[in-house]
Amino acid sequence: MKITIYGAGYVGLVTAVCLASIGHQVVCFDVDKDKITKLKQGESVIFEERLSLILKAQLKSGNLFFTNNFVDAIKHSALQMIAVGTPGLPDGQADLSQVFALAAEVVNHVSRDMILIIKSTVTVGTGNRLEKYIKDQLASMGKDYTIDVVVNPEFFCEGRAIDTFMHADRIVIGGSKRGTTIVKALYKKLIHQGIPVQCMSKTSAELTKYAANAMLACKISFINQISQIAEKVGANIDDVKSGISLDHRIGPYFLQAGIGYGGSCFPKDIRALAKTAQLLNLDSSLLDAIDKVNNLQKKWAISCLLQHFKNNLQGLTIGIWGVAFKPGTDDIREASSLVIIEALLQYDVQMRIYDPLAMPNARLCFPGNKNILWCESQDEVFTSQIDALIIDTEWEIFKNYSLAILHEKLVDAPIIDGRNCFALSNVIQAGIRYYYSVGRVF
Ligand code: UGA
Repeated sequence: MKITIYGAGYVGLVTAVCLASIGHQVVCFDVDKDKITKLKQGESVIFEERLSLILKAQLKSGNLFFTNNFVDAIKHSALQMIAVGTPGLPDGQADLSQVFALAAEVVNHVSRDMILIIKSTVTVGTGNRLEKYIKDQLASMGKDYTIDVVVNPEFFCEGRAIDTFMHADRIVIGGSKRGTTIVKALYKKLIHQGIPVQCMSKTSAELTKYAANAMLACKISFINQISQIAEKVGANIDDVKSGISLDHRIGPYFLQAGIGYGGSCFPKDIRALAKTAQLLNLDSSLLDAIDKVNNLQKKWAISCLLQHFKNNLQGLTIGIWGVAFKPGTDDIREASSLVIIEALLQYDVQMRIYDPLAMPNARLCFPGNKNILWCESQDEVFTSQIDALIIDTEWEIFKNYSLAILHEKLVDAPIIDGRNCFALSNVIQAGIRYYYSVGRVF
């Protein structure tokens, strides 16, 4: 099938590359000329495992084409997919301006019946609003075409995007019978491989996307709140997690206690859903609490430091391992590391920071800051004695680091492990004296 995708950001690019790899002819449009130039040369603009490889292969096969010419893009197909950003506004609502601006362009240039697929995460009700907007615009222009709007949210995860697209748990399609049938055909190959597909109304599809992210974020905030109790009463959160997750109704996933969730999705989506509830005059207290617990959890490492150094952080040098919001990505959006670095800057602390992928993005957030030394490796963090080491992202290279060497480098400086990278028994065996982890008492 032929499809045009608008937006070569995270969602658009991964979707374009994956759809091309299952045999579709994909044109991907973006307004950013530099980005399109790079992509045309097979240079991925985001870090994602295997993305570059598949991108190059699909460009070569002729299934994938990038452009910043809107007329070329719209002419390519009767299937048009919107994958532009819907960032959070200061009041929590999703900013839909790019979605509507794009729909307006589509209406201006349309010359046949079309299906407009919304892949971006949009406020519940947007699909219906957009369909009405398009209908009104077409009527006012005297254009006699039908544009069906179909909502087809994405569920893949950063760091494992290709895998979680190709082996998704489900495909959700919301819209009219005609629209959903055509969009279903787009995923025929994946559906034949056994991925369940669920067709529903546009509104239900939009709410499904938000509900999925809210449920997952809720599990994380839940376990983080339990971890706070565990720390106070001397329980071990790992044991509690095992104890509850063997109950099939609860399950083991998304119950890893840590220093809060980040990324471009959970924080913004939970706030947007809470705002939707509020605008409907509904109680949003559970959704608000998920966000509140998460914001508190992001301060966990600072509380440990304050406790250890008896509220006096003056003159300290702190090492930080990891700034990405999770391993496998260079993305630092809403990462807990940003909250930690900002707080340490307030205390005028010196920092030595290393992340295997996200350093360029992190540097951009704190340009030329004299308190921060960006290190070339995890070991460079130790080239002069540090007073504490904070582990912010559970990269394998940190998890596999020798505790004996860590002990040697740190001497008696505490490890503040925000991702529970090490088993307590191993830490004890290595002779480490001060080790703080989430929901576990050392
Ligand atoms: C999330 C969802 O998992 C995807 O299904 C969804 O498609 C995506 O948002 C989206 O809306 O686009 P993602 O943000 O890539 O995916 O990352 P996750 O793996 O979900 O992790 C999010 C955050 O939660 C990370 O900071 C991670 O460290 C944290 N987390 C995750 C925990 O603290 N504990 C856990 O048990 C799991």
